[in-house]
Amino acid sequence: MPDRFREHRSKLSSQIGSDAAALVPASTETIRNDDVTHEFRQNSEFFYLTGFHEPEAVALLVPGHPDGDYHLFVRPRDRNEEIWNGYRVGKEGAKERFQADQSYEITELDTMLAQLLLGRERLFYRSGNGHDRRVQTLLEKSRNYHKRTGKVLPSTIVDLAPVLGEMRLRKTAAEIESLRAACSLSAEGHREAMRFAHPELAEYQVQAAMEYVWREGGSPRNGYPSIVASGPNACILHYVENDRMIEDGDLILIDAACEVDYFSSDITRTFPANGSFTGPQAAIYEVVLTAQKAAISPARPGATIRLMHETSMEVLTEGLVDLGLLPRNVDDSLAMNHYREFFMHGTSHWLGLDVHDAGSYRVEGKPRVLEPGMAFTVEPGVYVDGREEIEFNLHAYDLDEHLEQSFLDPSGAKKRLEEAKEKADKVTHKVPAEFRGIGVRIEDDILITESGHDNLTSFVPREIDEVEALCTQQSWLSRA
Ligand code: GLY
Ligand code: MN
Ligand code: MN
Repeated sequence: MPDRFREHRSKLSSQIGSDAAALVPASTETIRNDDVTHEFRQNSEFFYLTGFHEPEAVALLVPGHPDGDYHLFVRPRDRNEEIWNGYRVGKEGAKERFQADQSYEITELDTMLAQLLLGRERLFYRSGNGHDRRVQTLLEKSRNYHKRTGKVLPSTIVDLAPVLGEMRLRKTAAEIESLRAACSLSAEGHREAMRFAHPELAEYQVQAAMEYVWREGGSPRNGYPSIVASGPNACILHYVENDRMIEDGDLILIDAACEVDYFSSDITRTFPANGSFTGPQAAIYEVVLTAQKAAISPARPGATIRLMHETSMEVLTEGLVDLGLLPRNVDDSLAMNHYREFFMHGTSHWLGLDVHDAGSYRVEGKPRVLEPGMAFTVEPGVYVDGREEIEFNLHAYDLDEHLEQSFLDPSGAKKRLEEAKEKADKVTHKVPAEFRGIGVRIEDDILITESGHDNLTSFVPREIDEVEALCTQQSWLSRA
């Protein structure tokens, strides 16, 4: 593992150049209550460059510095702290175990910062992660220092996020191995959940069986809080209570995955609690599955995830029209964004150290062209909540344009859209009763390869007959 971090540091050093430096902080612990902290998980940018797992550290990358490029500031060894709260690597360990060229106690940061940055014009730093005041002070010092001595300290702050985003988008062979491992183990957990789930269990009991497989298989933590949503809860996109009793006839939507080497998978499957889809459940499921397969099929170098979203949106809309869930034809439903009553999220996001991984989706305004080593999810869904009827506005609008305006002026964009919808003609459409309360999402993790793509999570079945067959298998965990 250490080699991978060295490789990342050396790549970043060559990208930022020898007139610059990068300051990258670790995460800090947050209090849950009294002296108890929330589970700590290292900041992914910091981890990507250091592999260092402790809080409150700072990495300073100073390309071409005579004392070495890589300077690591860490918490001091402290017998009392270590007895109460755990082992600390300390200054010596930072060099010996984490390959820092120079290491310091974190309390030395302010003193050392100006010395190490002398002669550098630019500092790469992501604002908003706990060190803004320190960086601000440095800029003030820089101005005065230059005025009095003519010598240079950084006077320009450059956002580090897009630079690291470009790097993290392209996974190396070693990283792909970790991502594959996270996907395989996450898939094992989903398979066990399908076997284990049963009406009259609580959602969290199914969660426990799945997460047991991950911990037993060597994953220390989940990539994000598990969503185990039975029945109508499947229509809540980020449902995490997981405390409902599963009923006979429910679908169970599980969106969950574990981490391996800090890489996260991201899998969703939807399956029947009693092992058999009802007719209406199967009808919705087939629409989502057809959309997902159609969206994945063009994935190869040169394609875009925008194309995948458009494909899934179109196929889903065709299915929704066929099932009588939308009042107008496919073209109108797309132009008027009616499908968003049932499919209101994107189809894909980058995947890596973070479940919603770093990297921009557009390059110079155009959808990013996919390259080998890029990884992302494909996750269409249909969510029919309990409404008996829906009032649709007969108003065509450009959703991308609306979303773009919403970034700059959220309340203004919302108001303009609401006013336009208010003026539009309306049609009230009855939601067929048999579909109410059904939520289905199917999500796989796709890696772009030289010749096409690899579905890293295909080990979890998604065809209806294969899902039903697995659901009826016996779990190897006891179910008292
Ligand atoms: N698990 C979060 C997502 O699917 O984006
Ligand atoms: Mn996802
Ligand atoms: Mn997911």
